[in-house]
Amino acid sequence: MPSKLSVNIGKLKLKNPVMAASGTFGYAREFQDLIDLSCIGAIVSKTITLKPRPGNPPPRVAETPSGMLNSIGLQNEGLDNFIEDKLPYLAGLNTRVIASIAAEGPGEIAAISSRLDKTAIDAIELNLSCPNIKGVKVSKRQGVKLVAQDAAVTHRFVKAARGSTGKTLIAKLSPNVTDIKEIARAAQSAGADAVSLVNTFYGMSIDIDTRMSRLGNVIGGLSGPAIKPIALKMVYDVYKAVDIPVIGMGGIMNAEDALEFIIAGASAVCVGTVNFVDPNTACEIVRGLEDYTRKHKLSGIKKLIGGLRV
Ligand code: SIN
Repeated sequence: MPSKLSVNIGKLKLKNPVMAASGTFGYAREFQDLIDLSCIGAIVSKTITLKPRPGNPPPRVAETPSGMLNSIGLQNEGLDNFIEDKLPYLAGLNTRVIASIAAEGPGEIAAISSRLDKTAIDAIELNLSCPNIKGVKVSKRQGVKLVAQDAAVTHRFVKAARGSTGKTLIAKLSPNVTDIKEIARAAQSAGADAVSLVNTFYGMSIDIDTRMSRLGNVIGGLSGPAIKPIALKMVYDVYKAVDIPVIGMGGIMNAEDALEFIIAGASAVCVGTVNFVDPNTACEIVRGLEDYTRKHKLSGIKKLIGGLRV
């Protein structure tokens, strides 16, 4: 009998819509002694790049009221290490595994996608929106931007990845834009199977005694409950603007928050910052969604997606 919580993201079927967000869950092995990993619908790896990256100077995290800043800078050991060292463990888990990837250009994203296409991963999330890296040159007039801050560049990156893999492709979008709908439409028209949003908001925090930023890279990305209402509105807007599934995230701390995102239009949700507070939260959210479907006599959680009454 199909689970009442199962949802589809492109070709990918999840047993429930709760995912561990990239960058907050390592490569899962780090959490194996803390929680039952099989309760989660999908695990998104820390973003990997073609070559290893040392990341940004410390400190890399700072707590803020109702949230946190990070400026990790995509530290990772590169694609070869991911495939040889991390993937065998991930592939043995009783959950879906999504590889998050980032690249400096369309050719590089195609190369990474093509390598991953031949592996056991279930899907690829294109991280087009990390706020802690330099970005790419868009044009002489516009200078350097994050990929997901420009519709045409987003289109180029997604198209390159699409041409290199048949796996479910998710484009992760930035909230640091004027109109996120425009970027989501570009990702869809280039062949993305889904969009995930939002990545973190640009932010900073200053120690007034030292007069220095609390982050080594000066600025970082803000996540946590502080951003939830803004993220929810962006998910609602994008849900109405595209025909592909939306994966919602931004400050989800419990089942009620996850349900808000689903009602706003999310087919699945990512749990991120709360993993640093209580790693069991994702499993508790799954139980909360089960209770909700029972209480409201829903035949399945899918019935709730975009069910906002207006
Ligand atoms: C980072 O590695 O800086 C965080 C990743 C992200 O925000 O996409």
